[in-house]
Amino acid sequence: MNVKYPARDRTFVLGMSGGSGAIYALRLLEVLLADGAFVQLVVSGAGRRVLEHEAGIDVGAPGFGYQHLVPEPLRDRLDVFDVAAVESTPASGSARIDGVVLCPCSMGTLARVAHGFSTNLIERAGDVALKEGRRLVVVPRESPLSVIHLRNMLSLAEAGAVVLPAMPGFYHRPDRVEQLVDFVVARILDRLDVEHDLVARWKTPEQAESARSPFHEEEDA
Ligand SMILES: Cc1cc2nc3c(=O)[nH]c(=O)nc-3n(C[C@H](O)[C@H](O)[C@H](O)COP(=O)(O)O)c2cc1C
Repeated sequence: MNVKYPARDRTFVLGMSGGSGAIYALRLLEVLLADGAFVQLVVSGAGRRVLEHEAGIDVGAPGFGYQHLVPEPLRDRLDVFDVAAVESTPASGSARIDGVVLCPCSMGTLARVAHGFSTNLIERAGDVALKEGRRLVVVPRESPLSVIHLRNMLSLAEAGAVVLPAMPGFYHRPDRVEQLVDFVVARILDRLDVEHDLVARWKTPEQAESARSPFHEEEDA
């Protein structure tokens, strides 16, 4: 496993396109900002509609905006960019950016990044990450996947992206949606080499048993 570092003072781009799973992005945003990272957020038009459908959040409502996606104390490290603003920092190869996450990633955004065909700031941020050798984590969500979707994912993986589907596991026996969300967010943080303790690391039953403290044995007795 790669060495993990604190998120503090590292800069990440988060592109939310119109795939299902806005909740993953909201949680990732919250964790990165709470850990002291700077986040540059870009939401596509479809991403905005998915936010409305899935989270009941209307960023166009009076007095509301993307800054309001996170609690007030976390806002000073959040920069929000218009998806059309292709002249801004996330589009730049010379900007100091530690990683780019496209989450959720629609099949449309995935296809355009896979083909180097950028039509907006999210796709350009992905394109630039690939050419600059920055970490690019793509979190697609679609089911079933067509051969075209699969080919596009292969192209991205071959170009150096991490393709990390929004596919939570169940072996930690979750009983809340939040645990499923954290499962995926933890995987994203792992691939950004960000330290976290969102989800307990997998242990075999034997490892779990040998890690038990004598106090547990007393409690069980
Ligand atoms: C509620 C909702 C859920 C959607 N879910 C998905 C999805 O899981 N995967 C996907 O590829 N597209 C999904 N779409 C369709 C995309 O939003 C649509 O293809 C859009 O054009 C993508 O644009 P973008 O890539 O610029 O964000 C969904 C749309 C809506 C409104």
